[in-house]
Amino acid sequence: MVVGAGDRGYDAYTRLFLDEPETGRIVGVAEPDPGRRRRFAERYSVADAACHESWEELFDRPKFADFALIATGDRHHVEPTLAAIDAGYHVLLEKPMALDVEDCERIVAAADAQGVTLGVCHVYRYSHLFAELHRLVAAGAVGQVVTVQQSENVSFWHYAHSYVRGHTRRSDVPWLLQKSCHDLDLVSWVAGAPASRVVSFLRPTELTGANAPEGAPDFCIEGCPHAATCPYDAVAIYKDLRPVLGDLALAERPLGLGPAAKVLQRVRPRLVDSKVDLLRTRAEWWRWPVSAVTDDHTPEGLDHALRTTRWGRCAWKVGDNDQPSSQTVLVEFANGVNASFTLHSNSYRSMRQVRVDGTTGSIVGELHALDGWLRVADHVSGKVRELRVPTAYDGHGGGERPLFRDFLDSLRTGTQPVASGHASLESHRIAFAAMRSAQDGCVVELG
Ligand SMILES: NC(=O)c1ccc[n+]([C@@H]2O[C@H](COP(=O)([O-])OP(=O)(O)OC[C@H]3O[C@@H](n4cnc5c(N)ncnc54)[C@H](O)[C@@H]3O)[C@@H](O)[C@H]2O)c1
Repeated sequence: MVVGAGDRGYDAYTRLFLDEPETGRIVGVAEPDPGRRRRFAERYSVADAACHESWEELFDRPKFADFALIATGDRHHVEPTLAAIDAGYHVLLEKPMALDVEDCERIVAAADAQGVTLGVCHVYRYSHLFAELHRLVAAGAVGQVVTVQQSENVSFWHYAHSYVRGHTRRSDVPWLLQKSCHDLDLVSWVAGAPASRVVSFLRPTELTGANAPEGAPDFCIEGCPHAATCPYDAVAIYKDLRPVLGDLALAERPLGLGPAAKVLQRVRPRLVDSKVDLLRTRAEWWRWPVSAVTDDHTPEGLDHALRTTRWGRCAWKVGDNDQPSSQTVLVEFANGVNASFTLHSNSYRSMRQVRVDGTTGSIVGELHALDGWLRVADHVSGKVRELRVPTAYDGHGGGERPLFRDFLDSLRTGTQPVASGHASLESHRIAFAAMRSAQDGCVVELG
């Protein structure tokens, strides 16, 4: 059963049941939005009697499924997860587990006490790149790991979209936890031991009214005099798709995508305002991030949304955004591995970078939106080999489906999934310690 049939609950994992019906089927859903509930029930053929408005109704019923996928928003993970565990369901929980360490520990302890399996959706553990990196490290490709360095380089426009104009602009769900519990999970997975000490620094956002360029109107579309020089111009981001296509233009694979994106980047502004219907239709093919702004992707619909909704606001003048613009975390692990991680908002393209250096070798890697690579160097032979990771279209380096399969396998075999609740707790502990360190200016000891 699925709790929260939004973006993740509707599509990310459970699509496997449509493609391979023998793997399982969905027998219940809880979703307050009637349109989303109907859409979900139709897609997965869920009986009317098993479609509920909320998780309370679902878990009040006698148990009628093997597991629950909890895919509600970040602030609403704890109660449905505890209720599902209490009702005897295995649980696959979207990240972050919870918004404080006590709730994370309560969830893990409840699953242990009830004897049910708890998986957390750390999809990157299953991505082509990080799964291979971990396999290489475990096989001794770098000898003993000494340092791990990772960065999550969020592109400037993605930051403005999600963390300034978007739903996650408030720091009561900290950016580090929301976006990078994945990275902290990867770092601790590769380090291979619990964290012992954490220190962190963050830089507040520059995107505040006090820094707004002079004369900038409240909405970019109202003829902003800085439109040509401002990286956050909403018209360029949502209508011309200039930076989105710029990111894709850098893709090396699949072959042809990069050059096609370059051409589209040049012609798109003319297509969207074209009077020729056929061309206008062509210009509407793109969805995210425009899909977050409006369902009406015609030029008129987009103009209207950019004039009237927060997505069109001057990024400097949104007013209630307080996510930081960067945060660095240093971690010392109990086995002596030192790690550093930086999350920031000013990258020319979205990508993760990683390097692991050990006593006999080094591995460096980059994961982009669609592709990536790893270079594995051996200190003794001096050889460096490059591994290209397969193109992945799921936005998570190819990790979504393997994560779901691993969770299903763990239920069949009674083993723990690779991304178990216990494993996830480590990354959450580091994230909360980092938040405390950044706030209080101290080194946090984890014992
Ligand atoms: N694993 C990943 O890489 C990854 C990627 C993106 C998002 N996420 C996480 O997935 C979660 C869901 O994100 P999303 O983008 O699908 O959000 P969303 O807002 O699209 O979906 C959440 C759904 O929960 C529903 N809901 C709210 N209250 C409910 C209740 N009482 N009972 C049942 N349903 C209820 C909402 O109506 C909504 O449809 C978030 O925690 C997010 O951080 C994880």
